[in-house]
Amino acid sequence: MNATLTASPSAGIALGVDIGGSGVKGAPVDLATGEFAAERCRVATPQPSVPEALIGAVAEVIEHFDLPEGTPIGVAYPGVVIDGIMMSAANLDKGLIGLSLPALVEERVGRPVFGANDADAAGFAEIAFGSAKGVPGTVLVTTLGTGIGSALINNGFLIPNTELGHLEIDGLDAEVRASGAARDREGLSFREWAPRLQRYFEVVDFLLHPDLIVVGGGVSRKHEKFLPLLQLRPPIIPAALRNTAGIVGAAALAAQAFG
Ligand code: BGC
Repeated sequence: MNATLTASPSAGIALGVDIGGSGVKGAPVDLATGEFAAERCRVATPQPSVPEALIGAVAEVIEHFDLPEGTPIGVAYPGVVIDGIMMSAANLDKGLIGLSLPALVEERVGRPVFGANDADAAGFAEIAFGSAKGVPGTVLVTTLGTGIGSALINNGFLIPNTELGHLEIDGLDAEVRASGAARDREGLSFREWAPRLQRYFEVVDFLLHPDLIVVGGGVSRKHEKFLPLLQLRPPIIPAALRNTAGIVGAAALAAQAFG
């Protein structure tokens, strides 16, 4: 069934879709508040996430909503995105690399679609509506999910595609040890996981010296269980939008791109 929107595009609604390792989630977003304008729709990420199946899943989420003509649509994807082209796919099917997912989704749904990295989308949402709003200096937004995503923001400007989840730390790709998925995979308690995060954020601080670190992703719902265990120079706080930031940011970026 379609979720019908009552608002018109002039009321500032855009649709955001966030592709994750396990789910493709989307919702129309009220761009004045950063809140969902209708209930979120989620479909499972196809396994394997080959292009045809993934495009189908994204189209299903978009078509779930009865969007007014001209509603901007943004898709956030867990990999480097340059001019819409997927340049990497750490946790998705490698067949996506080199394709323009937005262009392929656009062909399928017959509407213009904008593409961005998922962590960049989350960072953009935190700048516009969340924990990084109005924060001067350098803010690093990280998402701790299937991978580790990063968004680097300086005085409100986003520097895209930073990929700090793939820093090599102690001989390993950082997200292999410190992501939320690594904690689940190895059955680590928050106390056992915290030293890995401590090490990760120490290295990130050593390289970038952010004024603030914001932590998002699904696990940020339980931030009180691990953020107090970290001792870092910069303040480290939970993302205000928790796990909705990817959707909200994809919508806001699309509105900016098509606005
Ligand atoms: C990907 C990033 C993505 C992050 C979070 C990493 O594996 O390389 O592009 O932002 O996961 O999904």
